[in-house]
Amino acid sequence: MKFGLSSPAVTAVTLGAALSAAQCPDYTTYSQSPQGNPSTGPLALPYMRPDPACRTFNSTAVEDVIANMTSRLKDPDIARLFENTFPNTLDTTIKYFNETENLAFVITGDITAQWLRDTGNQLAQYHYLYTQDSELATLVKAIINNEARYVSQYPYCSAFQPPPESGLSTTVNDWAIDVLVNPPVDNQTVYECKYELDSLCSFMKLSRSYYQATNDSSFMNDNWLDAISQIMRVIWEQSQPTFDENWNLVSYYNWTGEAGSLPGAVNNGGNGEPKAYTGLIGTHHRPSDDLCTFAFLTPANAMLTVELGYLADILDSAGLASDVSQAAREYVTNITEAIWEHTLVNNVFAYETNGFGGRYVMDDANVPSLMSLPYLGFLNKSHPAYVATSQVLMSRVNPYYVVGKNFSGIGGPHEDAWNPWPMSLISAIYGTDDDDEILDYLYLIANNTDGLGLIHESIDIYDGSYTRPWFAWANSYFSEMLLDLASRKPYLIFNDNETYVPGQ
Ligand SMILES: *[C@@H]1O[C@H](CO)[C@@H](O)[C@H](O)[C@H]1NC(C)=O
Ligand SMILES: *[C@@H]1O[C@H](CO)[C@@H](O)[C@H](O)[C@H]1NC(C)=O
Ligand SMILES: *[C@@H]1O[C@H](CO)[C@@H](O)[C@H](O)[C@H]1NC(C)=O
Ligand SMILES: *[C@@H]1O[C@H](CO)[C@@H](O)[C@H](O)[C@H]1NC(C)=O
Ligand SMILES: *[C@@H]1O[C@H](CO)[C@@H](O)[C@H](O)[C@H]1NC(C)=O
Ligand SMILES: *[C@@H]1O[C@H](CO)[C@@H](O)[C@H](O)[C@H]1NC(C)=O
Ligand SMILES: *[C@@H]1O[C@H](CO)[C@@H](O)[C@H](O)[C@H]1NC(C)=O
Ligand SMILES: *[C@@H]1O[C@H](CO)[C@@H](O)[C@H](O)[C@H]1NC(C)=O
Ligand SMILES: *[C@@H]1O[C@H](CO)[C@@H](O)[C@H](O)[C@H]1NC(C)=O
Ligand SMILES: *[C@@H]1O[C@H](CO)[C@@H](O)[C@H](O)[C@H]1NC(C)=O
Ligand SMILES: *[C@@H]1O[C@H](CO)[C@@H](O)[C@H](O)[C@H]1NC(C)=O
Repeated sequence: MKFGLSSPAVTAVTLGAALSAAQCPDYTTYSQSPQGNPSTGPLALPYMRPDPACRTFNSTAVEDVIANMTSRLKDPDIARLFENTFPNTLDTTIKYFNETENLAFVITGDITAQWLRDTGNQLAQYHYLYTQDSELATLVKAIINNEARYVSQYPYCSAFQPPPESGLSTTVNDWAIDVLVNPPVDNQTVYECKYELDSLCSFMKLSRSYYQATNDSSFMNDNWLDAISQIMRVIWEQSQPTFDENWNLVSYYNWTGEAGSLPGAVNNGGNGEPKAYTGLIGTHHRPSDDLCTFAFLTPANAMLTVELGYLADILDSAGLASDVSQAAREYVTNITEAIWEHTLVNNVFAYETNGFGGRYVMDDANVPSLMSLPYLGFLNKSHPAYVATSQVLMSRVNPYYVVGKNFSGIGGPHEDAWNPWPMSLISAIYGTDDDDEILDYLYLIANNTDGLGLIHESIDIYDGSYTRPWFAWANSYFSEMLLDLASRKPYLIFNDNETYVPGQ
């Protein structure tokens, strides 16, 4: 899917005051052409929020943050980007919410399925507001409960169909039709069963962020505790080597693609490249949904150590499952040691390793990535290993770093090697304290929205065309980063040097 300079203009839709859901334009179409009045800066970015009647969730606290930020941001183009991106997930992706049932279904944007990873990231910028807006908190709790149901049943899967209670119809995943996956899945519940370690981390992160913001432990019901015990089982299973001491094949999960699936056929009976024991936890697919080259994905393991630590904290705080919290703390110690011992050479982290000495030095834009290690909370941006690694990643040493006339950054094989992603630059902003570097990355992103004022998936360095007009995660990550700058470096984006933290 490619959009951009070469794509035909879509006629703007004029919106009336009262629209029924059926009259609301499809946001995939809506987001491909400029809608409301342009901002007054040189970029003249349009207002892209849907008509109020078409929004999928309303929050006065969210409107308050928008008003507070846009009144203080010194560049009207950046203010417009914040205004469009911060509410995008609530405006466009809450497909179902029923408080009584404690269930909510969140789509990723242009694909009608709920990804565990995307959902956690889509909501990350709202955690400040849970105590101000109790309906928002209730929504997040319902999302956690829906995910707990998915994870307890299918801990190896990454994306899901709507809950049956919603009455929403399921979506056929054309890319999964010829895929044989073990353990088998029911396609009425599962949209895609790629095993991605970071999906489980994302579920844990959403849970603990909710708890940290509210002190409300009521989401830790049987569903949720069951999901957590399934996660602990997967972690153990995926720490095992491909062959045991008697050369028996150890395979708890395998995914055999066929012609037509994405990716295609996977070697070794759907197991991919063999792995040896290191203490690291294997994964099968990357946060891009691409197949791993080697199973031990460093950034996913880094995120796992952070999230298992918080998991142990919240379980202890709620006085629940002390055996799980103890095991989680042991894993934090063991996996952290394994990361430093097995993935680092000359202070540079490999993206993936296999335990046999194989190292793949690269990065992929999707978070968790190596660039995002400080964002994830694994280490400080000033740590020598991060400084050295990020220099390598933003250079020709990284096969997925590219420089174009207007745009540059890190991409990945998910699109093309010549399509860097704005997301990589957001991670880089979290990874530096250098003001010039931050502004450079910020304006690389702002200058390259194809005049649409939304954050896209990737941008082709040769023709400027972009992928995914409606990519809620990227919008959320951008606004989360601006809020981080508002508290970390207010003078860079405001006319004064006073920090802004939502709700404070
Ligand atoms: C949001 O508010 C508008 C009125 O401003 C309303 O028409 C719309 O139905 C509300 N959306 C939801 C999901 O309640
Ligand atoms: C929420 O679910 C309950 C129980 O299924 C149902 O009775 C109620 O009508 C639903 N509420 C809405 C607003 O759909
Ligand atoms: C589920 O699989 C069946 C059998 O392959 C197929 O006919 C059906 O379209 C699939 N449904 C969805 C929602 O993927
Ligand atoms: C695939 O995984 C299942 C467990 O889900 C296992 O029983 C089977 O042996 C594995 N097959 C291969 C070829 O690895
Ligand atoms: C949660 O509890 C901690 C420790 O008791 C307290 O410091 C914090 O203010 C509480 N937060 C909320 C939102 O109640
Ligand atoms: C952590 O490593 C120690 C020492 O190798 C081992 O005894 C322990 O079982 C490991 N813990 C977990 C949870 O894997
Ligand atoms: C980062 O540095 C701060 C302050 O020096 C320290 O408290 C924190 O533990 C460090 N974080 C990590 C992940 O090392
Ligand atoms: C963004 O565009 C402006 C105006 O064309 C230009 O001056 C600036 O150098 C660009 N910034 C980056 C980082 O590309
Ligand atoms: C770079 O930006 C200029 C000005 O918007 C545009 O005319 C040109 O086509 C772009 N080039 C590429 C390769 O994207
Ligand atoms: C902004 O305020 C911080 C903390 O008060 C201070 O350390 C910093 O030097 C100030 N920066 C500027 C550019 O005024
Ligand atoms: C917005 O700013 C006002 C005035 O400073 C403040 O009272 C309010 O709490 C802020 N709202 C949010 C959500 O940050």
